[in-house]
Order: sequence, then structure tokens, then C-alpha cells
Amino acid sequence: MNDILLIGFMGAGKSTVGPKLAARLGLPFVDLDAEIVAEQGRPIADLFAEAGEARFRELELCALSARELLPAAVVACGGGIVTRPEGRELLKRLGTVVYLRTTVAETLSRIRDKGSRPLLAGPNAVEDATALLDSRSELYAEVADIQIDTVGLTPSRVAERLAVLLKSKEAIR
Ligand code: S3P
Repeated sequence: MNDILLIGFMGAGKSTVGPKLAARLGLPFVDLDAEIVAEQGRPIADLFAEAGEARFRELELCALSARELLPAAVVACGGGIVTRPEGRELLKRLGTVVYLRTTVAETLSRIRDKGSRPLLAGPNAVEDATALLDSRSELYAEVADIQIDTVGLTPSRVAERLAVLLKSKEAIR
């Protein structure tokens, strides 16, 4: 409970901002994608190819719901966590949800590791990313307590700004 949950599109910086923010807040950092890969013993691309996206979404929800019993942390969630209503409900229940906003162009320039992003590994990455981001933007915004634009900011600057926002939010509670 009382996690800081980082959500947003692929390449928004959840996994790079997360550890920096966690250090500023004195909390552990948890990356849900990394947990799933470690637990399943297979990279995300293999999980998608062998078990399918629906199975990956179940694993993702399972990893998120396990947070309810664990000590507070900064948690980087996979970009698709908001696609299921259960995911959105869990996020709201678990703590403070932070939406790292980005653009398709920024996403495509940042993501080099296509192996963990099978949804953007096809030949039409721009079209695919545009359609996915369009379909998700409202969902990210719907569950977010805090939103921040990441374009043009380094992960350190994003973490710094978020730490200030989160501390002031805590102070006025
Ligand atoms: C996905 C995002 C990825 C990973 C998987 C699916 C998505 O995580 O969970 O490839 O549907 O947006 P990142 O958002 O950390 O890249």
C-alpha cells in the first residue's frame, strides 16, 4: 500500500526515472516487467510469442496485485497495465499514480530494446505506436493523481520535479 506507481507509454522513462525517484524518496524500486521476466525465466518477447498478450496481461495483473501485501515502493508498471479495468482499479487502490507523458516520436527515439516491446517491433512502428498511444492516453489520465511531461527532460530532472510534487502533495494531506 501507498506505493508510488509510475505509468505511461513505452519509452516514457518509468524504469529510468523510477530508481532515481526511489532514491530521493528513500523507498525501494520495483520494476514489474523485470519481475515477470525473472519469475517466468523468459524475455517479454518470448512470453508474447509463446503464451500470447492476454497471458502476459494476466501475469502483469498478478504482479501488480501482489503489491497489496508488500511494503511501499516506487513501482514501474508496464505501459499496458491500464488496458484492463482490473489494472486501473488496482492502481488507484495501491497508492499514488504518476503518469509520465511522452510522444510517439520520443518513444521511438528512446526505445532501443525492441525485445521487451514486441508491440512496436513490427515494420509499422510509427502507426502502431500512434494507434496504441491514442487508445491509451485517456486511460493513463483517468487513473493518474499526478501527470508530468517528460519530453525534453532528463530522467534526473523528472525525478527531481516529481519528488517535489509528491512531497508537497503529502504535506497538504
Ligand atoms: C507494453 C509495455 C512494455 C512491456 C510489454 C508491453 C505495452 O513495458 O510491458 O512490451 O503494452 O505498452 P514498458 O512500458 O516498460 O516498455
